[in-house]
Amino acid sequence: MRIALCPGSFDPVTNGHVDVVERAAKLFDKVIVVVLTNTGKNPIFTAEQRVDFLRRSLEHLENVEVDAYSGLLADYAREKNAVAIVKGLRAVTDFEYEFQMALINKKLNETIDTLFLTTKMEYMYLSSSVIREVASFGGDISQFVPNAIREDIQKLLRKAVDDNGGR
Ligand code: PNS
Repeated sequence: MRIALCPGSFDPVTNGHVDVVERAAKLFDKVIVVVLTNTGKNPIFTAEQRVDFLRRSLEHLENVEVDAYSGLLADYAREKNAVAIVKGLRAVTDFEYEFQMALINKKLNETIDTLFLTTKMEYMYLSSSVIREVASFGGDISQFVPNAIREDIQKLLRKAVDDNGGR
């Protein structure tokens, strides 16, 4: 069984992420989407909320599981016997960071290889941070996130803005 990991902070999952997981699921026997800690980011949603959003967005994919892990991706890969890390690549701006991560992960676990799937043109502009921004100002995010989770994302982000006394 060839297992691949789709790691990320998924704060929240976007249609671009779903597209990458769907394509990875065709290439591997099993895909584990894993919510990890990016120490450079301060997530808005809890790990539980992010896992829940992912599960609801990916339930149409039989060979996909969702998990959360608080350690190193390289260690998680070893634990799960994964052979690959699959990430989406949007543009040159993603490249330097992703290239560095791939090299570090290879150093930490030499059995793992990182594969990059080129994003679909229609998702080039998408990012979790853009979605957070649009939704927190009450904008329409229906084209950016799966339908199943849109309302919950909007509600939680509006609440976060209100709790901060508005903008
Ligand atoms: O969606 P992101 O924020 O670009 O994903 C980055 C993520 C979470 C995959 C990365 O920060 C990560 O792997 N975090 C876990 C800790 C780790 O293994 N870091 C890489 C070696 S420094």
